[in-house]
Amino acid sequence: MSYVHGYDRRANVRLQDQADALVDLLHSDTHYPERSLVLEAGCGVGAQTVTLVRNSPRARFVSIDISPDSLGAARRKVQSANVLFQQADVYQLPFARESFDHVFVCFLLEHLARPLEALEKLKQVLKPGGSITVIEGDHGSTYFHPDSAAAHEAIRCQVELQRASGGNANIGRELYPLLCQARFADVSVSPRMVYVDASRPRLVDGFTRKTFTAMIEGVREAAVRAAMISAARFDEGIRALYRTAEDDGVFCYTFFKALGRKSSL
Ligand SMILES: C[S@@+](CC[C@H](N)C(=O)[O-])C[C@H]1O[C@@H](n2cnc3c(N)ncnc32)[C@H](O)[C@@H]1O
Repeated sequence: MSYVHGYDRRANVRLQDQADALVDLLHSDTHYPERSLVLEAGCGVGAQTVTLVRNSPRARFVSIDISPDSLGAARRKVQSANVLFQQADVYQLPFARESFDHVFVCFLLEHLARPLEALEKLKQVLKPGGSITVIEGDHGSTYFHPDSAAAHEAIRCQVELQRASGGNANIGRELYPLLCQARFADVSVSPRMVYVDASRPRLVDGFTRKTFTAMIEGVREAAVRAAMISAARFDEGIRALYRTAEDDGVFCYTFFKALGRKSSL
C-alpha cells in the first residue's frame, strides 16, 4: 500500500503530538459504556487508542491496523488489558457479522481509495443499534495569517500526492454523504475548528508547527521529485506556514466528527 504520510519515526512522533494537542477538541464527547465492545479501525501507533481507553476505562477495544510495525508501536504504547491489537485490513475484516457494539475511525478514510466500501464493511460487523464515530480532517479548511500563496501551493502538493496514492485529504466535508450512502441512520456531523494564535502556545507548537506544518514538510521530496513545485517555492511555503506560528500569526483548520447508528430494522 502506498501511504502518503509514511511510517517513519518522525511520522509517528507527529501523530502523537497531534493526538495530544487535539484530545479535548476531538474526544471530549466520546465515551463507551462498561463492557461494550468497540472496534477501532486504522489505529496506527495507538495515538487515539490511549484516549479511547482513558475516556472509557470499562469498555473493551479491538484495535486493528494493516501495518504490523504500527501495531508493534501501539502495543508498546498502550498496555491495557482492555485493548486487543490485531492486524487486519478494513476491507477484509476477520470478524463475524454484528460482533461490535461501536466502531471508531480516526484519520483512516482519508487514506482509502474506497471509503464507502470500508464504511459498509464496518457496518457489517456492527450490531444493530450500534454507533459509528468517524473523525477526519479537510485540508481545504486551512487558512491563516499572514496569508501566503506559496503556503497554499505547498499544501496543494500534499493534497495531490494523497490523491495520487488513492486517498482524499479533503474528505472531512464528505462524511455526511458517505455515512448516508452507507445507510447509517441518525447521521450528524460536527465541525471541530482548531483556532490557533499566540495565546494558545500548546496549539501553536503541537498543532501549527508539529502537526500541520510538519505533515506538509514531510512531502517535500515527493512533491519536488514529481515536479509539482520547485524546491525553492516549496521551502518558501513552509517558511510561511512556520511564520503563522509567530506572535502575530493565526492558523485555522477544521476537523469533522461524524456520528451514525446502524438501524435495528
Ligand atoms: C493517519 S493513520 C491514523 C492512525 C490513528 N487512527 C490516529 O489517528 O493516530 C492511518 C492508519 O490507517 C492504516 N490503514 C491504511 N489502510 C488500511 C486498511 N486497509 N486497513 C486497516 N488499516 C489501514 C495505516 O496503516 C495507518 O496506521
